[in-house]
Amino acid sequence: MDHLCEEIRACQECELARHRTTVVPGEGPEDSDLLFIGEAPGWHEDQQGRPFVGPAGQFLEQLLASIGLRRDEVYIANIVKCRPPQNREPLPAEIQACRRWLDRQVELIKPRMIVTLGRHSLSRYFPDETIGKAHGKPRQLDGVLYYPMYHPAAALHQGSLRHTIEKDMLRISQILAQGQEGPSDADQERQLSLF
Ligand code: URA
Repeated sequence: MDHLCEEIRACQECELARHRTTVVPGEGPEDSDLLFIGEAPGWHEDQQGRPFVGPAGQFLEQLLASIGLRRDEVYIANIVKCRPPQNREPLPAEIQACRRWLDRQVELIKPRMIVTLGRHSLSRYFPDETIGKAHGKPRQLDGVLYYPMYHPAAALHQGSLRHTIEKDMLRISQILAQGQEGPSDADQERQLSLF
């Protein structure tokens, strides 16, 4: 992973390379069960080279604490590793250029569950789904559980989403525990469809 992060730090694949201060590859234990994937670094992240260290990150830490986890116990990354200027949304070409980095991180970490934060992160895996419908509903694909959640920044700005994201987070331990009991894939699909 260290070697991969070095490669990511040297990336010049898209326009964002010209605007960034620091690349933000991601951080956490390489064998984490849980991988949280946000959108793109913001100002704080661009300054420090670490994901989710601004206000959205503080909220993410509170959410993790609500299920008994510290941020250094999970892997946290973004779909785009460099800050888009003025915090604009990442462009499809930028998301595409960055795709292989996250794919290689997922290959190394082999998480049991990927938590997508926000609609860009959701679309990367499930392009036809909307966050309003998909959030809080786990689904399994190629042996990995995917769990879409609203982005913590959206929940910070929209009071009504705060309760929803808090509730969605609380279900993570429950879903992982169910997985640990080891039902067959078919059983698990059935259970998951109940959510
Ligand atoms: N928002 C994100 O999506 N990622 C970060 O790292 C910080 C804020």
